[in-house]
Amino acid sequence: MKFSKNILCIGAGYVGGPTMAIIALKCPSYKVTVVDVNEERIGRWNSDDLPIYEPGLLDAVRAARGKNLFFSTAIPEGIRAADIIFVSVNTPTKTFGLGAGMASDLQYWEKTAHQIVTYSEKPKIIVEKSTLPVRTAEAMERILSENKKNIHFEVVSNPEFLAEGSAVNDLLEPDRVLIGSQQTESGFKAAREIAAIYAHWVPIEKIITTNLWSAELSKLVANAFLAQRISSINAISALCEKTDADVAEISFAVGSDTRIGFEFINASIGFGGSCFKKDILNLVYICRSYGLNEVADYWEKVVKMNDYQQERFVKKIIKEMFNTIVAKKIVLLGFAFKANTGDTRESPGIYLAKKLLEERAALVICDPQALENARKDLAGLEGEVVYEPDPYRATQAAQAIAVITEWDVFKKLDFEKIFAGMRKPAFVFDGRNILDHRRLFQIGFNVFPLGKPSLTHF
Ligand SMILES: NC(=O)c1ccc[n+]([C@@H]2O[C@H](COP(=O)([O-])OP(=O)(O)OC[C@H]3O[C@@H](n4cnc5c(N)ncnc54)[C@H](O)[C@@H]3O)[C@@H](O)[C@H]2O)c1
Repeated sequence: MKFSKNILCIGAGYVGGPTMAIIALKCPSYKVTVVDVNEERIGRWNSDDLPIYEPGLLDAVRAARGKNLFFSTAIPEGIRAADIIFVSVNTPTKTFGLGAGMASDLQYWEKTAHQIVTYSEKPKIIVEKSTLPVRTAEAMERILSENKKNIHFEVVSNPEFLAEGSAVNDLLEPDRVLIGSQQTESGFKAAREIAAIYAHWVPIEKIITTNLWSAELSKLVANAFLAQRISSINAISALCEKTDADVAEISFAVGSDTRIGFEFINASIGFGGSCFKKDILNLVYICRSYGLNEVADYWEKVVKMNDYQQERFVKKIIKEMFNTIVAKKIVLLGFAFKANTGDTRESPGIYLAKKLLEERAALVICDPQALENARKDLAGLEGEVVYEPDPYRATQAAQAIAVITEWDVFKKLDFEKIFAGMRKPAFVFDGRNILDHRRLFQIGFNVFPLGKPSLTHF
């Protein structure tokens, strides 16, 4: 079949894979190829055992794969054939040198830019899909324009706002699609071309065009705002525990104000995921590099409050279990950083597991999708860790349950049966406030929710 356009995506991760699957599904006249250096990942994208778990993703991939959606490791060939290249490689926090622990590590992104220059034989639109520091496109343009072939590359920013766990739905019905371009004739033309892809299924009024720098910065700001709301309610949860106010009642009362709303104001053990922390720290680093220390300090507190919330949770477990958890069997219900994903990057579960192991607890990790990643995260740590997908087996002879991830299956468990199999006194530490605390208390558990009065039999 002759396709009207060749789209390439470099980086077959949580963003590249789902985004391209939906573009392929909605634009049958485009050939969409996703390439990656990771052969195992590409192998899994070509199988029914996808490398990531997202509700609805396998169906979407199956519907387009082999027709107009292809996964491959042939990067040079992919670059040569492409009219449009989405760059969706990872941009983690730098772990070394200048800006370590704060700035974005742009080595994968820069390598991609050099590969594009090396293998291109015709003009292309280069789309920044990865989350990048503001003004990265300037550097991208410089690298791309240093080619002796006189090829024009137009750089466009199209940050991705999907949330893991609902990625397919978010891609099918996005709140908005953001496209930033240079404010030049060729910049506007490129933005129109990218908008035309999304216009296959996204209402035109939801496609926002801006200048390049606003698009790059909007992504960092969106994540900072979302994380800030979580840290704000978590800060209040600590005060609730001192005053016997109930943080869920506060969330409802405060969120009922339509100016505030209910999203992202549920108290929890804290945010995780590969993006929030890294994007805020990157924002902080950028602000400092412009001498905006007050602005940097303001946003840095969002991350510090998140660390504090996780520390508080661990300390509470230790304190309430009589200040020792040596050899006590503690079950982490959930390990993914949120429900409906197997992703554990920056999950509060990692921090919690490490701390509990340091205290020599015997850990059982129970998660419907994240055990494979949990094993990798905790590999090499000293201590006893058992990975058990079945919550009933996991909790046998356990002394405490700590809820880490808000999976629906955990809400529906038969806690009478679980209680019967546990050692007494039995504890529940609900790091997501998803369980029916009064009912658990009636069954016999000692219950420690977040930001609410505890319910104990002592
Ligand atoms: N995960 C999310 O929910 C999410 C949401 C919005 C934006 N983002 C941003 O999107 C970007 C990608 O995130 P992700 O979660 O998909 O990362 P990821 O680690 O899952 O995937 C990135 C992929 O890029 C590949 N890669 C790296 N260098 C390469 C190269 N030179 N050539 C080919 N492949 C290469 C890696 O092998 C990896 O498979 C990041 O900037 C992230 O901040 C992520």
